Amino acid sequence: MNRGRIVAAMLALIAAGALAFAPTGEAAKAKVKRSVVKVSKEGEACIACHESQSPSFVKDWKESRHAAKGVDCYTCHKAEPTDVDAKQHYGFTIAVLVTPKDCGKCHPKEVKEFTNSHHAKAGDILNSLDNYLGEVVAGPEAVTVGCVQCHGSKVKLLKNGSLDPTTWPNTGIGRINPDGSRGSCSACHTRHSFSVAQARQPEACGKCHLGPDHPQMEIYQESKHGILYVAKKDQLNLSKRSWVVGKDYTAAPTCATCHMGATADQPATHDVGTRLSWSLRPPISKKQEHADQKRAAMKDVCDSCHSSPFVDNHFRQFDDLVNLYDTKFAAPATNMMKELVARKLLKPVEFDKKLDWTYFELWHHEGRRARHGAAMSGPDYAWWHGMYDVSKNFYTEFLPEVKEVAGPTLYDELVKKYLDSDPRHEWYTKGMSKDQLDRIKKYYQERYGEKLQ
Ligand code: HEC
Ligand code: HEC
Ligand code: HEC
Ligand code: HEC
Ligand code: HEC
Ligand code: HEC
Ligand code: HEC
Ligand code: HEC
Repeated sequence: MNRGRIVAAMLALIAAGALAFAPTGEAAKAKVKRSVVKVSKEGEACIACHESQSPSFVKDWKESRHAAKGVDCYTCHKAEPTDVDAKQHYGFTIAVLVTPKDCGKCHPKEVKEFTNSHHAKAGDILNSLDNYLGEVVAGPEAVTVGCVQCHGSKVKLLKNGSLDPTTWPNTGIGRINPDGSRGSCSACHTRHSFSVAQARQPEACGKCHLGPDHPQMEIYQESKHGILYVAKKDQLNLSKRSWVVGKDYTAAPTCATCHMGATADQPATHDVGTRLSWSLRPPISKKQEHADQKRAAMKDVCDSCHSSPFVDNHFRQFDDLVNLYDTKFAAPATNMMKELVARKLLKPVEFDKKLDWTYFELWHHEGRRARHGAAMSGPDYAWWHGMYDVSKNFYTEFLPEVKEVAGPTLYDELVKKYLDSDPRHEWYTKGMSKDQLDRIKKYYQERYGEKLQ
């Protein structure tokens, strides 16, 4: 802090002292709107100084439900001198970090649900394939500004008690905090408004759920649901305490509606996994435990707006796509990779051959995009960014690269074992049938009067 700021800070501290002793004075009324804001003595000191030091935080806080209920700066930031992250700050013992453990004193239900969710475990990525790519193939500096800004860092303290700059600032969803708690509530409830309205908007999720490997945000924007959200955002009652779909709003579902929101039959939840029947993240999709129950919970959300045959048919289309991707592409590709590793022609997960990258992108990028697109009604992701890329890369990159690594004899063996049993690959292994070719020729002749070469 420069000297000017220290002087300003000290002057404000003196003013704060005056406020604390004369809380009904005109100056106090001007600084803190008492009609809407309740503050403790300590909180008053924080605000008096921080009003000039960090005006945006104070303004956001003043407009929050916390301010109206007397939850002030000191309530959240106060610390015991024995806390690992405690620091002395103008006569107060405070902590910069405010973790789920702190919020849990007043919001035990949300913290419990969140702590049980996959979100709270998102910081445990150290031994993943992606982490090898991040830490080793790229470099740890990339992990600090990339992976862990979404997944959560392990926040560390330096010997002098300040926060290790390679681990904080960070609001990753599964942040590992020095007090042992997991997560960061401001991942969705941006500070210092901590508003439900903001967290109910898709943009709250969009910081993390986008890009080549999990484009849920782009899919949503493309979907009818996302289109309606933009058209009718002002009809969504986003600030309303009670937010039951079909009752408090009907205009469009947001991410929060489907994955967290209340319906007439089920309460809102901070465990975003309770309505997922699949895990679409691994190379080959996995059914979740109690999949039927979770599917029913999701359908209950859809049924708040749609008819049940419409919803059942949507899920039929989605499940069919997942099965197509799994059985036609993911399973044979994964089995071929296993055979190459077993024969020591490939090292497992080393990313030193083009084939490693091609296979990785097949399931981790385009394979996920296709499945996510089908789940959430984004046809461009289901097809052009999804199954189109899966098909193109499977036939024109993956198989030729397998051939290069395996050599022609083993390659023929693998094709026989994993592709020839499935007639859906015949067009490639045996060539297009005369019948198929004739039908296509006829189509172009009738439509454009053209002859196909
Ligand atoms: C006399 C002025 C003053 C008072 C009183 C004051 N602060 Fe601060 N606070 C500051 C200044 C100035 C900074 C910025 C320090 C910097 O930029 O180096 C700061 C920084 C902080 C930080 C961030 C620290 C960090 O290491 O990143 C927190 C959190 C904070 N204050 C909370 C509080 C709380 C809670 C209270 C009331 C209990 C309070 N402050 C009272 C002046 C004050
Ligand atoms: C509901 C709890 C809560 C209240 C009330 C609250 N804060 Fe915070 N504050 C947080 C959280 C959460 C963080 C993020 C810290 C972390 O990463 O864990 C934070 C971070 C900060 C920081 C450091 C981050 C930065 O961007 O510089 C400052 C400074 C700060 N708060 C000041 C204040 C002041 C001033 C007030 C009162 C007007 C206040 N806080 C009220 C929860 C709260
Ligand atoms: C933009 C935010 C973001 C970045 C950056 C990011 N991830 Fe992720 N990651 C996610 C999201 C969101 C998911 C969940 C995707 C889904 O469910 O479809 C995920 C999923 C994962 C999974 C699968 C977890 C499981 O339970 O199957 C691993 C492992 C992973 N990421 C590791 C990493 C690593 C390591 C890096 C950096 C090299 C990284 N991620 C970069 C957001 C991110
Ligand atoms: C994945 C994003 C996300 C995270 C992370 C998150 N929340 Fe929420 N939170 C929401 C959404 C969305 C709502 C609104 C739910 C609804 O009403 O449908 C909400 C609502 C709330 C409410 C209001 C409940 C009510 O009945 O009015 C509280 C309190 C709350 N969250 C606390 C927390 C706490 C504490 C944490 C950290 C453990 C946390 N949230 C983490 C998204 C999130
Ligand atoms: C000292 C108790 C206390 C602490 C600590 C606390 N809150 Fe709250 N919080 C409240 C109260 C009281 C309300 C208002 C509830 C009401 O209006 O009925 C509230 C409301 C909320 C809401 C709903 C806001 C809205 O727009 O409706 C969210 C979200 C929330 N808190 C998140 C958090 C998070 C995240 C933390 C930790 C960073 C936290 N709270 C810490 C007491 C607390
Ligand atoms: C700060 C980053 C971040 C934000 C914000 C975020 N998520 Fe996530 N989300 C992740 C990561 C990372 C994962 C993967 C966790 C894992 O499996 O390790 C994930 C996983 C999920 C899952 C899969 C859960 C499961 O049980 O498999 C769902 C559903 C989800 N998020 C929905 C949401 C919704 C809805 C929002 C917004 C209200 C949201 N997320 C906000 C990072 C985030
Ligand atoms: C209309 C309801 C709906 C909306 C809106 C919606 N989703 Fe989904 N989401 C689903 C369904 C259905 C699934 C697949 C459920 C299953 O596994 O059976 C899903 C799956 C997911 C998954 C799990 C993917 C995996 O790899 O297993 C994540 C993460 C996710 N959604 C995040 C989001 C985010 C972020 C948004 C907003 C940008 C969003 N969703 C909007 C219905 C919705
Ligand atoms: C808040 C109400 C609401 C909820 C909840 C909701 N939808 Fe929709 N949905 C709509 C509306 C409105 C449309 C637009 C219909 C149109 O095309 O005119 C729509 C469109 C669709 C479409 C048509 C897509 C297209 O491109 O034509 C599908 C499929 C769909 N929803 C599936 C679902 C599924 C599955 C769920 C639950 C996971 C769900 N919806 C939840 C309101 C909702």
